[in-house]
Amino acid sequence: MSTVDDVDLGRRRFLTATATVVGGVGAAFVAVPFLKSWSPSERAQAAGAPVEADISKLEEGAMMTVEWRGKPVWILKRSKKMLDDLPTLKGELLDPNSEMASQQPKYARNTNRSIKPEVLVLVGICTHLGCSPTFRPDAAPADLGPTWKGGFFCPCHGSRFDLAGRVYKGVPAPSNLEVPSYRYLNDSRVLIGVDPEAA
Ligand code: FES
Repeated sequence: MSTVDDVDLGRRRFLTATATVVGGVGAAFVAVPFLKSWSPSERAQAAGAPVEADISKLEEGAMMTVEWRGKPVWILKRSKKMLDDLPTLKGELLDPNSEMASQQPKYARNTNRSIKPEVLVLVGICTHLGCSPTFRPDAAPADLGPTWKGGFFCPCHGSRFDLAGRVYKGVPAPSNLEVPSYRYLNDSRVLIGVDPEAA
């Protein structure tokens, strides 16, 4: 069970990372004080505006990462085998049907947790204390055991998630990885941070 100290420690790590990034931006401004100021769109982006991702070159089985609101967002193109494995894992998962409403928009509340079955969009932050899990698509690796069918593994305290970001039972993370709001601009462009009905 996590304690207040654990949570504070996690926050402190996050704040340290944030301070480092902000410090870097500040240093850049000092170095070139008159060359450039932020445009309105850059200011909006920094405050959390939607972020566009081009997935046209994303190959089956591969994952790319974009940054949205200072967080990593993963986009994984799942193979048929990856999708076929998802229903078989239900008994091992804490919330296999995505019933915790805070963890995904309504349109991602299905077995695949996505709009298009093959394309998974997830916030890449562990729901335990905020580490970033590693992408482990390999089946049955020595360190994760013979029943592992691919997923995400958090090295901080060992939480495991499947290839839909659903958390396994018996690990520290209390909920599935978050699916952000997103919509398709066309077949190869995804806009993160906006619901489809906001089109
Ligand atoms: S942060 Fe604790 S398991 Fe991921």
